[in-house]
Amino acid sequence: MSRLPLICANWKMNYTASEATRFAEIFLSEMAAARNALDAQVEVAIAPPHPVLDRLGGALAGSGIQLAAQNLHADESGAFTGEVSLAMLIDLGCRYALIGHSERRQLFGEGNSDVAAKALRLQGSALRPILCVGETLDERERDTTLQVVGTQILEVLDVADGLSDELVVAYEPTWAIGTGRTATPDMAQEVHAAIRKVLSDRLGEAGGGRIRILYGGSVKPSNAGDLLSQPDVDGALVGGASLDPEAFARIALACLEMS
Ligand code: PGA
Repeated sequence: MSRLPLICANWKMNYTASEATRFAEIFLSEMAAARNALDAQVEVAIAPPHPVLDRLGGALAGSGIQLAAQNLHADESGAFTGEVSLAMLIDLGCRYALIGHSERRQLFGEGNSDVAAKALRLQGSALRPILCVGETLDERERDTTLQVVGTQILEVLDVADGLSDELVVAYEPTWAIGTGRTATPDMAQEVHAAIRKVLSDRLGEAGGGRIRILYGGSVKPSNAGDLLSQPDVDGALVGGASLDPEAFARIALACLEMS
């Protein structure tokens, strides 16, 4: 089953619009040789902070690099001070939206039902969800990783029950995010294969086989190749290393070489 790999940057709360424009210049020149392969052999996306989407979109126009949002509100519109809607993100040209990132879950109290409501909002829209799942260190040590991750996925699919190929899942063990600790390729593959089984049991073998599962958690140029060579690792969600345009380009190019 061949799946188009996706490498997505998650800038979190970093970079102003001017800094993002500078990033785009360097990143695009690093990626120049690979431009024809973008979207055909590998998809590359960047999730900057919301206020930066417009300027970054302009700087990336025509490059084949996609825009992604880091979050959105589950409601269509209304009195939700400080929030951002699906229509706003589509209007800015986003193709993807992260939902359920572990920082949203841990720091902003989002639970599976909140994530499911966002997934339902995205279902059938032009914006594709990147559903982030992953266990804490404590959950891993108690050997409950597969149960935790399975529940995070199924509680979303129970509500957003029309999602299929447009869904992307990102497995990000929280103990590996921003810590420099990375799951070994074998550890990542074990969880990715289990996630694929959960998806296939729910959506059918072919449906589960088409969904891309990204790995995230301290991905960098030195470990990207080994992680991406695993059969069920279909790309990466990159935080810290994506702030460096050269490092992020090296990760995208490593993925391209393997495709
Ligand atoms: P990291 O972040 O690459 O800095 O570990 C990944 C993420 O949070 O998506």
